[in-house]
Amino acid sequence: MRQYHLGISAYYHDSAAALISEGNIIAAAQQERFSRIRHDSGFPADAIRYCLDEAGIALDDLASVSFYDAPNLKFRRLISSFASAGPGGLAVFQQVFPQWIRWKARPEKRLLSALREINRGQPKGGITFGTHHRSHAASAFYPSPYDSAAVLCIDGVGEWQTTSIWHGKNTDLTLKNAISYPHSLGLLYSAFTDFCGFKVDSGEYKLMGLAPYGEPRYAQKILDELITLRDDGSFSLNMKYFAFLQGRNMVGEKFEALFGRPKRQPESEITQDDCDFAASIQKVAEEVVLGLARAAKKMTGESRLCIAGGVALNCVANGCLSRAEIFDEIWIQPAAGDAGCALGVALEQDAKHRQKRMIPASGHRDAMQGAYLGPAFSDDEVMRYLDELGAPYQRLSEQQMLNTTADALASGKVVGWFQGRMEFGPRALGARSILGDPRNVEMQKTMNLKIKFRESFRPFAPMVLAERAAEFFDVRQESPYMLVVSDVRERWLKPVSSRHLGSINDVRSTMPAITHVDNSARVQTVHPEINPLLAQLLQRFDDMTGYPVLVNTSFNVRGEPIVCTPAEAYLCFMRTNIDLLVLGNCILRKEDQPALENDTDWRTEIALD
Ligand SMILES: [Fe+2]
Repeated sequence: MRQYHLGISAYYHDSAAALISEGNIIAAAQQERFSRIRHDSGFPADAIRYCLDEAGIALDDLASVSFYDAPNLKFRRLISSFASAGPGGLAVFQQVFPQWIRWKARPEKRLLSALREINRGQPKGGITFGTHHRSHAASAFYPSPYDSAAVLCIDGVGEWQTTSIWHGKNTDLTLKNAISYPHSLGLLYSAFTDFCGFKVDSGEYKLMGLAPYGEPRYAQKILDELITLRDDGSFSLNMKYFAFLQGRNMVGEKFEALFGRPKRQPESEITQDDCDFAASIQKVAEEVVLGLARAAKKMTGESRLCIAGGVALNCVANGCLSRAEIFDEIWIQPAAGDAGCALGVALEQDAKHRQKRMIPASGHRDAMQGAYLGPAFSDDEVMRYLDELGAPYQRLSEQQMLNTTADALASGKVVGWFQGRMEFGPRALGARSILGDPRNVEMQKTMNLKIKFRESFRPFAPMVLAERAAEFFDVRQESPYMLVVSDVRERWLKPVSSRHLGSINDVRSTMPAITHVDNSARVQTVHPEINPLLAQLLQRFDDMTGYPVLVNTSFNVRGEPIVCTPAEAYLCFMRTNIDLLVLGNCILRKEDQPALENDTDWRTEIALD
């Protein structure tokens, strides 16, 4: 009889569920996509329901249910850090204590009762509790292409661990070393995210995007005052500058005094100084990651590295790691943040029960199925929805749909592309994406200001046919999950040297929409064996333009979770300047659509990220 293992992450940020059976990932999804609350930290009832429905099973059919971390250990860490923080810590402790005591007292009871409420039967056994970094490590190692590898996890904080190095061999993961709270690269990066006026736990990638506009003139000060790096790769923070032990703020007066300026107010103008801070912390983060990678290599003797944890989403640091050639290859879990822990904790159970490695699908290098692990909608379901809505559309054959889409893209149109199973993890990888022509000099501006309604400094990422990637980008290895930054090849570059914020719209290459100010790009390599439809679209675009490259950004507006259903895609299409919506083989043109009736002012409904 098939064994099913359910993994859950919840109650911190990015709640998610994942279902594994016999070495295969059946389904995985973040709760935010269903609840429409970005980074939803609540119990992932909808995501669990979806996972069970995908397999056609109930909770009674599960061999195990596991939770991604250990609430009792986390509680002990909270008590201990509040106690060491003095009077400031006590005030915050009094606020959070009541909710924590309810959760800590009976975490299993609370989870079982939440599971009962989803109306899919009852689990036969209890709940197994994992540990946070082990769940990250399992998510990085088990689905990777490797039988043995070093594993590096770097995030803000789990229970105690903030950084951990593991050795993965077949179905075993052995902890080699760890760094504990409050010494955390994730929290150091978040401190600068906060200092530069962005939201902690979601604005870190904005800071990373800002870094190339700046000079790292504060990097030495950070290394002298804020963090001590040791030769063995370990590090510690100078806690007198940080406020997160005392409460909810990341940085306080001492931090501001050190740099001689206050925190930037959110949504206020971004200055060159903010860019310099971004460049400085990015440089330091890269140095820390390289030190840890060298340590991981020394401790394990492995030539391949798997990575997870929130810091693994820093694709600029990943690019740096790839170029440093400490390891022959690196593999990064696409759901590197805490959502991926739901997958990791379930994979751990599966590995334990079967004592076997996962088997990638035919033609795939890893077992992530391209991260296409969420809900899909058939053409019949799409048409039923569109007919009910009365939205004019055309249903085409697949070949016609591809030709029409490539044609629209080549003539400068912006396309909402909704195909197959939704991605698991924070990136849109061509299942719920907005696509455009990278050659178009207006595309970056149009997409930022009229479609995403977000800051204009933020770059867009290219997707490129894997077999042609090296022609356009300095890629050292495949990058199917858009998690490694590479330089645009020199032959495509234009002679532009300015790198300040005002030069955002300078044409730096023949693909200006995806070329960042430092001539880098966050590349997604598209593999025909993993996503044949997308590969065909790129091929057709190449036939028309000579570029097997498209701009790919997530299908959402700023602050909104990526769309999950055809209805959410249609609404996003109608509220933005997307020209063409492609839902499966159904094509909708903006000019044919009636105006939305009774639309609300959605920009006041969606909180900015
Ligand atoms: Fe984490």
